[in-house]
Amino acid sequence: MILTEIDHVAIAVHDLDAAIAFYREAFGAEVVHREVVERDGVDEALLAVAESYVQLLTAIRDDSPVAKYLEKRGEGLHHVGYRVEDCAVALASMVAAGATPIDDEPRPGSRGTTVAFIHPKGALGTLIELVEE
Ligand code: CO
Repeated sequence: MILTEIDHVAIAVHDLDAAIAFYREAFGAEVVHREVVERDGVDEALLAVAESYVQLLTAIRDDSPVAKYLEKRGEGLHHVGYRVEDCAVALASMVAAGATPIDDEPRPGSRGTTVAFIHPKGALGTLIELVEE
């Protein structure tokens, strides 16, 4: 079994501070990590849930994939992050199973992780992020 944990569930939002306030009010959830990821054009907040996270994210520029997602689909579930022991092994396994990678090689993600994204087409309509801590 390649998956070790649900690393995070990522929700795209228009207003990150308002979304954080909503999760705080609704669940008492607190931000344990916040980071602007320039490469992906996002500002993200991680709320810890046991060994996993809810990730609230918003776009920081118009050409960000998240900006395009928000424009097209509005706020909502954006991707699922699956924690794995070895991102390259998990990526190769998904490709061997017929999935289409967005990242051909593992690359740096937020909070010092190594990540690779898999296209929803060919992965049951779900944008998947493989996360190696
Ligand atoms: Co993610």
